Amino acid sequence: MDREKITLHGVPETMLFTLYARALDSRSPAPVLGDTEAAAVVPRIDYDFRRAGLGPLTATGIALRARQLDDWTREFLLTHREATVLHLACGLDARVHRVTHLSTVRWVEVDLPEVLAIRERLLTRPTGDYRTLAASVTDDAWLAEVPADRPTVAVFEGLTPYLPPEEGKRLVRRLVDRFPSGQLLFDVYNPVALKAARLVPALRRTGATFRWGVGDPRELEALAPGLRCLDAVRSVELPRIERLAWPARLSARAISLMPVVRDMERLLRFAFRSADRPA
Ligand SMILES: C[S@@+](CC[C@H](N)C(=O)[O-])C[C@H]1O[C@@H](n2cnc3c(N)ncnc32)[C@H](O)[C@@H]1O
Repeated sequence: MDREKITLHGVPETMLFTLYARALDSRSPAPVLGDTEAAAVVPRIDYDFRRAGLGPLTATGIALRARQLDDWTREFLLTHREATVLHLACGLDARVHRVTHLSTVRWVEVDLPEVLAIRERLLTRPTGDYRTLAASVTDDAWLAEVPADRPTVAVFEGLTPYLPPEEGKRLVRRLVDRFPSGQLLFDVYNPVALKAARLVPALRRTGATFRWGVGDPRELEALAPGLRCLDAVRSVELPRIERLAWPARLSARAISLMPVVRDMERLLRFAFRSADRPA
């Protein structure tokens, strides 16, 4: 098999880490995500995945995060048969294949041009109402390309820490302004995690830095009228955490008793102009 050589630096390189994590999870005896597309893509890439410094534990943690965001996306689509899914910073994530959806759903993926070019070559192209937009989420033009005719769920995983704080907040405001109603599903790191990230060798190797930290997710409600925080789930308390091996479960349990540290990474679900209340 001809493998594709990938040479990326900075934030785009980090998409290879999360891809590898999903592939490792998929190959484990009891996957939490079961992302067979990731498992198929990794062997086709010529890249030293040891740079990710991932062990089974971190890989499962990343898979648990993706699983939660998948589940929230599915929940939204259960109650909105005609909807738009806006998958920002999609990287090489096959969420579009994992989250089975009706043909009445429009699916739009956004990432930087160099990332989408690789995605195009490696991932199976979905059928149906699907398109990609090559742009920085901080640019102004791309959002006008997404029709504002339907409830929209915007899901962005592994993006917010890399944005300058003002750009991250502006993105939230622009999404809420653009669509009639919907949800925003994303992960955030707190200021302590921002500092700790400077010590993570894999991140240092890429040259990417964490920039935006969110201490209190509810403060984001003030960014736009009608924006409500429905859920803020700590990564150490995610559903299915019991799938981790027992030493990791114990450590997650210990961390969940430690103020501030337990809030280092959280998954957030916000609703805007919508009567939705999750069951
Ligand atoms: C950690 S990876 C996550 C990728 C994917 N969401 C996943 O979970 O595998 C970070 C992603 O954010 C994208 N990204 C970072 N800054 C961006 C920006 N300003 N506009 C669009 N994408 C961006 C990168 O290109 C990369 O694909």
